[in-house]
Amino acid sequence: MTSTMRGSILLVDDEEKIRKRLGLALRDEGHEVVEATSVRDAQRLLLQRSFDLFVVDNMMPGMTGMELIREISQTTPAAERPQIVMMTAHGSTQLVREAFKLGVVDFLEKPFEVDELIALARRAVKQVRTETERQYLISERDAEFNHYGLVGRSRAMQEVIARADLVAQTKSTVLITGETGTGKEMVARLVHHRSAQRDMPLIKVNCAAIPETLLESELFGHVRGAFTGATMTKRGKFALADGGSIFLDEIGTLGIGVQAKLLRVLQEREFEPLGAERTQSVDVRVIAATNRDLKQMVAEGRFQEDLYYRLNVIPIEIPPLRERRDDIPVLVEHFVAKHTLRTGKPIDRVDDEAVQVLQRNEWPGNVRELENTIERAVVLTTGRILTAASISTIGTISAPASGLPSSRLRQNIEWVERETIRRALDQAGGVKKDAAELMGISQRALSYYLAKYRIA
Ligand SMILES: Nc1ncnc2c1ncn2[C@@H]1O[C@H](COP(=O)(O)OP(=O)(O)OP(=O)(O)O)[C@@H](O)[C@H]1O
Ligand SMILES: [Mg+2]
Repeated sequence: MTSTMRGSILLVDDEEKIRKRLGLALRDEGHEVVEATSVRDAQRLLLQRSFDLFVVDNMMPGMTGMELIREISQTTPAAERPQIVMMTAHGSTQLVREAFKLGVVDFLEKPFEVDELIALARRAVKQVRTETERQYLISERDAEFNHYGLVGRSRAMQEVIARADLVAQTKSTVLITGETGTGKEMVARLVHHRSAQRDMPLIKVNCAAIPETLLESELFGHVRGAFTGATMTKRGKFALADGGSIFLDEIGTLGIGVQAKLLRVLQEREFEPLGAERTQSVDVRVIAATNRDLKQMVAEGRFQEDLYYRLNVIPIEIPPLRERRDDIPVLVEHFVAKHTLRTGKPIDRVDDEAVQVLQRNEWPGNVRELENTIERAVVLTTGRILTAASISTIGTISAPASGLPSSRLRQNIEWVERETIRRALDQAGGVKKDAAELMGISQRALSYYLAKYRIA
């Protein structure tokens, strides 16, 4: 006996006798069968869930099966449509032709043997499974091919990706350096997701966003009563990352005290939670990132030399965007696609002149700044083509507008302000003081904007 793959089947027929008989036979085969007595009934069910196979009668009171199939072909993307088998008493050639065109896989001329349906169902379900698997493999491969969203065709970026891939195979400590917005966090994620520990946690700690006094307990945890306010025992990030990776972002901001403790974890793979008597051991890969020159900091006595060497086992240096300008066109294309998808605003292309302008720019904020520029352009442009004009006009919006701005321009400015604040807060992990510093404005100004835009 061939084993049957279990499928979910929607059976639509107004005749109860037929429905019962076919339903029984299909269930006997192990399938899950849901019955509908009319097209309307079927439509309602289709809104709630999906099916592998659809067995539908054509002639029914109200809407016909064919009408339902037309509707499905218009509203459901091909990849998500079920397999459809149609039952007819007297199908005209024209009907059959249209049905096949709309993706119906087969016909059953009434009256038919139940075994025919069983065989068809078996084939159809198998087909769905194979297709799903194929789609899954494609998306896996795309993710691989795209390096988890990391785009870059320059030689420098290819080397970064190759190195990240290589180090992913080991458990070595990785130090990622690069200016702000060059993609350090993305590379860190790539390393983790390509490693054998990919199913274990990747825990991120933004060392800059946590006050020095709290960082130690954040990293190593504490026991109840370890200090005033420690009312509960808390596990630290290292303990949470056990078995996986810990991403220490902005490592250059670590105070000397925490540096010493971190060095110990890297050397001995163990630590003590604050106030604990017992030592805890961990098996964790450390990925650190910084936009500062740690070597320089070592020379200035602001970063412990031993820790620097322990971190810098495998260095990955991401060059600034202005030193790999051949990445700009692919990045632009990538971000346009990303933000048209996100905003639902259709943009057909970016014209050549615009690409040239973007390619010539210095991008002190690197890829992040480029992405923000594209996102803004996508949102604010009125046409379907991003032109140099639309991009450069937008660039001047952050400068104070002279005279009375039109209401549209004012809206644009407000949007940019709100976005900038939202992002800065995000980046600062919600700490207002840090967010204000990131934007180069006073805390007072930030409070004003928060109130203005009602940001909590
Ligand atoms: N090569 C790339 N391909 C696609 N997107 C990228 C690439 N590099 C950076 N980005 C995008 O740019 C933004 C900044 O990247 P990321 O946060 O990794 O930078 P970073 O180096 O950690 O910056 P910072 O030092 O400010 O923390 C993100 O939105 C990321 O998606
Ligand atoms: Mg970062």
